[in-house]
Amino acid sequence: MVYYPQIKIAPSILAADYSKLAEELIDVEKRGVDLMHIDIMDGHFVPNITIGPGIVRTIKKVTSLPLDVHLMIEDPYKYIPEFIDSGADIINFHVEVFLEDTGLNIKNLVKTYQSVKGIRTALTINPPTKVECFREILSTIDLDFILIMSVNPGFGGQSFINDVLDKVRILREDLQFKGDIQIDGGINASTAESAVEAGCNILVAGTYIFGASDRTEAINSLKNVKRRKQ
Ligand code: DX5
Ligand code: ZN
Repeated sequence: MVYYPQIKIAPSILAADYSKLAEELIDVEKRGVDLMHIDIMDGHFVPNITIGPGIVRTIKKVTSLPLDVHLMIEDPYKYIPEFIDSGADIINFHVEVFLEDTGLNIKNLVKTYQSVKGIRTALTINPPTKVECFREILSTIDLDFILIMSVNPGFGGQSFINDVLDKVRILREDLQFKGDIQIDGGINASTAESAVEAGCNILVAGTYIFGASDRTEAINSLKNVKRRKQ
């Protein structure tokens, strides 16, 4: 049977109250989450702008949890060194950046992947993008972390797109991918169950955790999602 790694919870701080960000981070950390998911948006790759490396550096001082930095930016290669220097523990960038009219620019993707030195790297795929590009990627680089977007990136609070779970099944079953599969967008206790059933093991949740009247209950409801049989 395929082995699916342990379930981890990554609150997306996009849904936190930025006027008291330090308190918000400490609050979810003490309630037992595993990673801090930080959404970086440049207003080009997605139609929204969030924060840059300076704030990531500040966040690093507040939490001891690994920082999972999700780069929704047009030029990850240019900014990766700054985010690593700011304290990122995981750098997450999108395959769409390398999709050209002629197909996937694997050379540039590999160059960007190799520029992430000393920390983990994840590759992210948007809902409309076909998962088949991972055949070439997985046969070229030793990737052990994939992020499946379950909403179109740019904003929190959107509804989960169930069809993306087919990609997870293809990764697990056809491509025999045994690393971490993270899912991001519209996660709550019910969508998390379907995602874990399909083979995801890292759950990003913004609105569901930060907007909950009882955050501990929300976090536990994700942690207790039934794991797929091994
Ligand atoms: C969307 C971001 C997500 C988002 C998730 O572009 O990548 O991390 O904040 O938010 P919810 O959980 O509210 O869908
Ligand atoms: Zn994200």
